[in-house]
Amino acid sequence: MRIVCVGGGPGGLYFAGLMKKADPRHNIRVIERNRPDDTFGFGVVFSDATMAGIAEADSEAYRGIARHLVHWDDIEVNYRGERITSTGHGFSGMSRHTLLRVLQEQACAAGVEVLFEREATSLDAFAGADLVVAADGANSTVRHLLRDRIRTAVDLRPNRFVWLGTTKPFPAFTFYFTRTEHGLWRVHAYQYAPGRSTFIVECREETWTAAGMDRATEEETAAFLEHLFARELDGHRLITNRSIWRQFPTIRSDPWSAGNVVLLGDAAHTAHFSVGSGTRMAMEDAVALRDALLESPDIAGALRAYEAKRRPQVESLQRAAQASLHWFEDTERYMSLEPIQFTFSLLTRSLRITHEDLRARDPKFLAQVDEWVAGEAERQVGHVGQVGQVGQVGQAGQVGQVGQAGQVRRACPPPPMFTPFRLRDLVLPNRVIVSPMCQYLADDGTIGDWHLVHLGSRAMGGAGLVMAEMTDVSRDARISPWCAGLYKPEHAAAWKRVVDFVHRETPAAIGVQLGHAGRKGSTQRLWEGDNEPLAEGGWPLISASPIPYFPDRSPVPREMTRADMDCVIADFTRAAGLAREAGFDLLEIHMAHGYLLASFISPLTNTRTDEYGGSIDNRMRFPLEVFDACRAVWPDEKPMSVRISAVDWAPGGMEPDAAVEVARMLNAHGCDIVDVSAGQTVPDQQPVYGRLFQTPFADRIRHEIGMKTMAVGNISSYMDVNTIIAAGRADLCVLARAHLFDPYWTRHAAWMLGYPLPWPDPYKSMERYMPRFEFKFTGERS
Ligand SMILES: Cc1cc2nc3c(=O)[nH]c(=O)nc-3n(C[C@H](O)[C@H](O)[C@H](O)COP(=O)(O)OP(=O)(O)OC[C@H]3O[C@@H](n4cnc5c(N)ncnc54)[C@H](O)[C@@H]3O)c2cc1C
Ligand SMILES: Cc1cc2nc3c(=O)[nH]c(=O)nc-3n(C[C@H](O)[C@H](O)[C@H](O)COP(=O)(O)O)c2cc1C
Repeated sequence: MRIVCVGGGPGGLYFAGLMKKADPRHNIRVIERNRPDDTFGFGVVFSDATMAGIAEADSEAYRGIARHLVHWDDIEVNYRGERITSTGHGFSGMSRHTLLRVLQEQACAAGVEVLFEREATSLDAFAGADLVVAADGANSTVRHLLRDRIRTAVDLRPNRFVWLGTTKPFPAFTFYFTRTEHGLWRVHAYQYAPGRSTFIVECREETWTAAGMDRATEEETAAFLEHLFARELDGHRLITNRSIWRQFPTIRSDPWSAGNVVLLGDAAHTAHFSVGSGTRMAMEDAVALRDALLESPDIAGALRAYEAKRRPQVESLQRAAQASLHWFEDTERYMSLEPIQFTFSLLTRSLRITHEDLRARDPKFLAQVDEWVAGEAERQVGHVGQVGQVGQVGQAGQVGQVGQAGQVRRACPPPPMFTPFRLRDLVLPNRVIVSPMCQYLADDGTIGDWHLVHLGSRAMGGAGLVMAEMTDVSRDARISPWCAGLYKPEHAAAWKRVVDFVHRETPAAIGVQLGHAGRKGSTQRLWEGDNEPLAEGGWPLISASPIPYFPDRSPVPREMTRADMDCVIADFTRAAGLAREAGFDLLEIHMAHGYLLASFISPLTNTRTDEYGGSIDNRMRFPLEVFDACRAVWPDEKPMSVRISAVDWAPGGMEPDAAVEVARMLNAHGCDIVDVSAGQTVPDQQPVYGRLFQTPFADRIRHEIGMKTMAVGNISSYMDVNTIIAAGRADLCVLARAHLFDPYWTRHAAWMLGYPLPWPDPYKSMERYMPRFEFKFTGERS
């Protein structure tokens, strides 16, 4: 096969060498526009896992690279005058220059022809090639030449960064966070060769311009930063090498090939430098492309197989990199965190490294984190002995004892998810919440045995708070004819049976979510047709504006008049009174998911021109009136929460910054905690799903306005819950489907963590039982 690689960076050179070693008959040429010794930047980082991958793919390359690696285990964070070190991270640094030399030598020794100072400007020059590999970096000329066939999205990030070197040998991957009159400067520094380190400085645009860096030459930049970081550099100089201030471009392209031309490495995709994976991704692409070509005789099929294998891995890494770059773009937000929590937040910023990973890497550091979280929780809860429902004396004495049946008990702080949490007089025994989930099994609003068993078993399952489903404030407020209600006296009695069971038999608290379906009412049950209008027996709908949910088939709601608003407020007030009678511990008002109150908040569903439409203040007016009316009848000692949709995932809809304003207003009106969900406002939403995909919205609200938050959405592992709580991304974690899958989710998490969550008395024999897990949690079915 005749192969041309455009670009002699790590991706192109590694692929060329691998392919030639696989079959020396291939005729392979690398075309590089620079000279052999030209390169930008200083060092690259490889994790131990990446090196293991290289060792498996090509032992010769591994040996060549491994000789030059500088290894370190520690990450050091310098923040607010403190230095916090965490160990066990297993990284290696290497000079980019040396890496390229090793890869060049090996490629040449294998018989690859490497031509320097040749720039590819058109594809015509490669007409005779069977395969053209575009490994020509982030600004790929080849990708640009194929722009009619390959779509490219370039997301140019706002922060400015400059990649410098220094002679100071940093013994750890070192971060500095330094405030000056111009703003906050972040430094990412690591050693890549004896006596040589990379020193990347990053800041916000406004800091960059305020410091005059937008007008500085390379020398002036180095001089300014040498002065700024004189103490950190300890007398060492900064070294420049085409060190210009840049903005990071996150590149996504689709597809990765056109005809016999295939993209590889930065030409196809980039991931922010803070996850240190660009070189690794280019090299992993090279291995995957070689494997695909070896497996398939037909080039088109091989290129498809290469993309099918690599795209999910690359996109997953890009999601992690996106979370990481957001953390660095928003570091200002976290500057009030205590150093230990700040460090934990930094280490877990990509949402991939969890509390549990850090236990494996650095148990001592993790114990400090857990100790700090437990101490904060104790301070927040105040006097112990009140865990459980409001006014109930429960079991708080678990803090400080850990042990599993048969294991030795040792004194150590509880895992973060098992720390208590106070909202007014309600003290929850832990941070796990069963999310409200409609069951569609009520009879004219009256719930029955199903609800008792459903909520009762989840309370027995160990969650700190069990939320009853969206419970409607009038018959016409229902989503479907089978929805639960609190609009008749007998509804309170039916709910009281559930509430009493939970209070009597478990340490859990129980809350209820009051709602009005608005334009999403009068529909079928979830499993019969989600949001689909009833064929018969429907009722008239109201909403902020007369906009049907499905434009082609949902009934048009009536735009609410002031009289309608008064009626709805009266319904909510009556329902809050009934909830109080039933004995619920927490009252949540549903202002999310496109239902009535949400329809006022979102500009997509509120086109009113009166004082209830337009600005966010106006759009919040009616929801706040409802909130205030409920707060007035809800007991002072009991907390209230509000569920919101932080984004609509649709153009022109709610965005996270507007959600911050919504939360700010709720906070000012006495809302104790905001339950941060997203979407379900319009049928054509385009959500960006993924693990913990809504958690960043809770994190933002919590830190920007100092309000307590609940995170919800694709939280399914106890590792994630511990991580969210310890990092302070939210105060409580709300899990829905995980609790359908496993009502005893919290008990099982406690067991896995070795935390002694007491069993109910009739189940005490469980303390001498050792479960045998004979199934795999892989999701694969055999
Ligand atoms: C500040 C910063 C820090 C980074 N830190 C790390 C890190 O710590 N770890 C890590 O793994 N990655 C890091 N990266 C990313 C890493 O440098 C790249 O992801 C990696 O080099 C990608 O390899 P590549 O072969 O795909 O592209 P490149 O390394 O960009 O190589 C492309 C090559 O193609 C050549 N070329 C371009 N156009 C043409 C043309 N028309 N004709 C001929 N030749 C051409 C270029 O001269 C270049 O040599 C960092 C990047 C930046 C910007
Ligand atoms: C069966 C079912 C019913 C739901 N009913 C409600 C509800 O009554 N109120 C509400 O706010 N959200 C409701 N939701 C949304 C969940 O509370 C939760 O926000 C969503 O499922 C995302 O969390 P998860 O990824 O943990 O499942 C429901 C979800 C499911 C699966």
